[in-house]
Amino acid sequence: MAETPPLDPAPAGEALLSMNEVTLRFGGVTALDAVDFHIDRGEILGLIGPNGAGKTTAFNVMTGIYQPTQGTVTFDGEVTSGMKRYRIAKRGIARTFQNIRLFKAMTAFENVMVGADAQHSTGPIAALLGLPRYRREEAAGREIAHELLDFVGVRGRADELAGNLSYGDQRRLEIARAMATRPKLLCLDEPAAGFNPSEKQALMELIRSIRDRGLTVLLIEHDMRLVMGAVDRLVVLEFGRKIADGTPAGVQNDPAVIAAYLGVDEDEVEEEVDDAS
Ligand SMILES: Nc1ncnc2c1ncn2[C@@H]1O[C@H](COP(=O)(O)OP(=O)(O)OP(=O)(O)O)[C@@H](O)[C@H]1O
Ligand SMILES: [Mg+2]
Repeated sequence: MAETPPLDPAPAGEALLSMNEVTLRFGGVTALDAVDFHIDRGEILGLIGPNGAGKTTAFNVMTGIYQPTQGTVTFDGEVTSGMKRYRIAKRGIARTFQNIRLFKAMTAFENVMVGADAQHSTGPIAALLGLPRYRREEAAGREIAHELLDFVGVRGRADELAGNLSYGDQRRLEIARAMATRPKLLCLDEPAAGFNPSEKQALMELIRSIRDRGLTVLLIEHDMRLVMGAVDRLVVLEFGRKIADGTPAGVQNDPAVIAAYLGVDEDEVEEEVDDAS
């Protein structure tokens, strides 16, 4: 299939990624319904919503696992919907998965090296010949891998098999591996799932320090209260539709959002609010 031709480079200040009226249907299920939002460069955007709202599906569309039924995705000034997954990844989107996907029989260090290797410009022949350029890239990759293991707090366990790491370390290792591909946008799908409150808090701090390194972060989380303090902005999905988009404080008091989370009618929330005031 022919690739979508690149657009002009995005002007400074333009969104890093835009979902433009994206609809995705699976047979009779509309997983995303004309979803329209953007991610600004350098921000932490929280993508929240109840089970089945379409959060993971939105990731899958951005990263090219699914093609939209309608609408487009643009990333860094190019239309990326329609591109193959590896091309989108090369343009600078990395992700982690809701269910951990590590190479369990490889060490923590090797798992991160897989991410770093994906960025090599030299191919397998240069590697076989041991060409200097390949050796330089290899050395740089190792340095980055160690630094990232340190950054996420898994340094001491670099040589352990990923499958033997604690659950929390596996989650953090997955983040390090994604970062090793040197993405512009890092998408994290419920990275704090299964964590206790203090682990969750520590992870939110890690995510803020990831942003401080210059990455843009898209964070899927189920727990609205948890993301409130960590994100710059929130997009809320319910049944595949965007129901809110704004600052944490604004979204928190939005009757449609409260209703979605309580599983009640928006009118009921509005009545409660009226009664209380
Ligand atoms: N491959 C698929 N085939 C059919 N339906 C799918 C597929 N993937 C997702 N869906 C449906 O699309 C809807 C959105 O699912 P999605 O996994 O995106 O929700 P989510 O917001 O990530 O939920 P959760 O919080 O449970 O992870 C659901 O109704 C789901 O059953
Ligand atoms: Mg999901």
